[in-house]
Amino acid sequence: MSPPRPIRAAIIGCGSYGAEHAAFLARHPGARLLAVADVDERRAAEFHRKFGTAYGTADVARIWADPEVDAVWICTQHDTHAGLAAAAAGAGKHVFVEKPLALTMRDCDSAIAAVERAGVVGMAGFKFRFFPAVQAARAFLGRPMLTVAHVIDDRWPEEFWANDPVKGGGNVLSEGCHIMDLVLHLNPSPAVRVYAEGGNRHHPSRDIVDTAAITLGFADGAVANVAIGDVGQPPHASKFALQQSDGQLSFSLHQRLNTLVTRAGRQVTEHPPHEEAGAAVIDTAFLAAIAGGLPSPCPLRAGRRATAVLLAAIESLRTHRAVDLAGESFAAAMTL
Ligand SMILES: NC(=O)c1ccc[n+]([C@@H]2O[C@H](COP(=O)([O-])OP(=O)(O)OC[C@H]3O[C@@H](n4cnc5c(N)ncnc54)[C@H](O)[C@@H]3O)[C@@H](O)[C@H]2O)c1
Repeated sequence: MSPPRPIRAAIIGCGSYGAEHAAFLARHPGARLLAVADVDERRAAEFHRKFGTAYGTADVARIWADPEVDAVWICTQHDTHAGLAAAAAGAGKHVFVEKPLALTMRDCDSAIAAVERAGVVGMAGFKFRFFPAVQAARAFLGRPMLTVAHVIDDRWPEEFWANDPVKGGGNVLSEGCHIMDLVLHLNPSPAVRVYAEGGNRHHPSRDIVDTAAITLGFADGAVANVAIGDVGQPPHASKFALQQSDGQLSFSLHQRLNTLVTRAGRQVTEHPPHEEAGAAVIDTAFLAAIAGGLPSPCPLRAGRRATAVLLAAIESLRTHRAVDLAGESFAAAMTL
């Protein structure tokens, strides 16, 4: 029996995180990085040379029209994700969309509709779900009562594109979606209510939310506290950390969620830490779903859910009122 044909991949957006995916795809035996595209022609040409692709182009339509391309990775600024995802799906390509899926519910909805209509595999770029330590933590404790989690980065430069309200959305929407997805993923019961304090604390020239302390309530009575902001990484816990307790068992994930410590009774177990897992773990899962004809292990609906809860949190911190996630504005976005 001949081995399965490698999945022929294209990357849209030849920047810093496109390079992470390109480096993985260029060496993975189950993939062939066929093409790269960027509105900046020089960047596309540089990736083409560096990763040995068949071509690099500034014309994204060339990727859609290329019958050889099976799957695309969208690694561009956030306001372009939904349009590119819809175009890729419309051309019959499986589509990986870097986080956040989009910054508005309308954009999230249009990307999901296009992917579901086309019947292709759509993957939201929440890599932390696939980290070995995170998966071990989820297997250890299935029904948390209390979650405490954060993503706290160093201060983002004022002019950084992710601080642009349209292109990036600011730290809470931009990076906060990673930890929000994980908190929702690690709570089996749906989130029903959110309350938040915060706002724009230190980017006076930008109309964004850079800092938030968010409280979530879940249908089964579980609760979560989620802190997000580019206010200075905590040196011990690291930029990303998450802990859960269920009344008996507890765990801490720290060192960017690569290190797991579990506690059962008085027995504390320090599990061997992993190397930074990076994009390889989620790309492997995406390729496996395509090759096996399986449903997405992280559907675009998860991207919409994380954005929806963060938009509700932003509404809450502006109004100083809790937002009902089961209410009309958000209920549809909470279903996966
Ligand atoms: N998962 C993670 O841990 C992680 C880490 C960093 C960045 N990201 C995400 O990756 C994405 C890209 O971020 P980055 O830091 O690589 O940005 P970047 O600015 O380094 O690169 C983005 C590239 O996209 C190109 N581009 C913009 N619009 C385009 C379009 N319409 N068509 C084709 N090319 C276009 C730009 O010219 C640029 O080269 C973002 O969604 C970001 O949030 C994810």
